[in-house]
Amino acid sequence: MAPTSRGLARRIARLAGVEAARAVAEFGPGTGAITREILSALPGDGRLWAFEVHAPFVDHLRATIDDRRLDVVAESAEAIAGLRERENLPGFDAIVSAVPFSLMDPARTTEILRAAAQALRPNGVFVALQYHPRYLAPLLSAEFAVVRREVYLWNIPPARLLRAQNPPRAE
Ligand SMILES: C[S@@+](CC[C@H](N)C(=O)[O-])C[C@H]1O[C@@H](n2cnc3c(N)ncnc32)[C@H](O)[C@@H]1O
Repeated sequence: MAPTSRGLARRIARLAGVEAARAVAEFGPGTGAITREILSALPGDGRLWAFEVHAPFVDHLRATIDDRRLDVVAESAEAIAGLRERENLPGFDAIVSAVPFSLMDPARTTEILRAAAQALRPNGVFVALQYHPRYLAPLLSAEFAVVRREVYLWNIPPARLLRAQNPPRAE
């Protein structure tokens, strides 16, 4: 799969609202196409933790993106729970994912989505880039109360963007 185009990466950063975020996580940064657009929109005091399991991509990201706001985490996405605890974060404002969930079994996908939902602050935003038209939406709806979808047509193949949120719980 070719790296995500700049236009699509910008749209993802916009949907996630990273321009007003302090704590952002990215799942599956690969060679950093979306990472760079997140960093270009992120405020100066914002931070981005990028979780990547493929060691050559981890090395590439560390060697090519020199930005004190970025931490490349050489762990799988669900390690976000431990990172949040270690960093003592109240909750992420946004999580952006390009992990190819449709190649995983649904139980593993659910494990990652649940970890994401629990790591977000109330009303924090989860944005997933997918190419499979149907796989993710029902699994996402099981973990998030509000799920919106859009198709980004200026890409071959058209990309599916899913944006999910959980509103604050009533006391
Ligand atoms: C399709 S690539 C996307 C790369 C880049 N974000 C882009 O959009 O061009 C998916 C990436 O997800 C990574 N990945 C797969 N499973 C993962 C997991 N459980 N946790 C974190 N990253 C994962 C892969 O190693 C790969 O770099």
